[in-house]
Amino acid sequence: MTQDELKTLVGQAALYYVEAGSIVGVGTGSTVNKFIDALAAMKDRIAGAVSSSEASTERLQALGIRVFDATEVDELAVYIDGADEIDHAGYMIKGGGAALTREKIVAAQSRQFVCIVDESKYVATLGRYPLPVEVIPMAARRIARQFAALGGTATLRLKDGVPLVTDNGQQILDVTGLKISHPLGFESQVSQWPGVVTVGVFAFQKANICLLGTPDGVKTLTF
Ligand code: A5P
Repeated sequence: MTQDELKTLVGQAALYYVEAGSIVGVGTGSTVNKFIDALAAMKDRIAGAVSSSEASTERLQALGIRVFDATEVDELAVYIDGADEIDHAGYMIKGGGAALTREKIVAAQSRQFVCIVDESKYVATLGRYPLPVEVIPMAARRIARQFAALGGTATLRLKDGVPLVTDNGQQILDVTGLKISHPLGFESQVSQWPGVVTVGVFAFQKANICLLGTPDGVKTLTF
């Protein structure tokens, strides 16, 4: 089975967690795109969605799914999103699609986080995938030095040869060389550095459930 087929499989499996009549939290990325496409089949049975990015909003609306602003909704029953890495406790690295800040906000607004990934993302320790960190541009160089002191190498993410600008008007540093053995402590520490908007470790907003796409089918992990 190809990686794309595994993504389709978990995207469809996530429909099980969508309650009729509810507003569903929707993440960002190629795996979530599969979920959005599957969600279109039940669009008349849900009230709509809260989206974590302009890209997901466009896709949802194009399929006729109403998108609410996060401020219009108190609490969401479920948030469905992919990840770049997930470990055995449900801690994740996210932000490969640069949407980490809004993803963390919508996740925090949701009672349950259902993570959908293919099995290549399931790791023993976070850190193989370059850690995305959204930063205020004027702080980027100093934050890069702070990561260097932890043994990491931070690189400014580019798009078309110029610094990528996030949906929030900020920049992304991708940090390699880190081994994140204590995700809660790491997230706490880095979140406090001046100029860090969001660190792509999702430990406080970890997954409650992971739907893992494998050649043998979808495995459900609960944390
Ligand atoms: C978006 O910012 C990310 O957090 C995505 O959830 C993550 O990059 C997974 O994306 P794919 O499903 O495209 O691998």
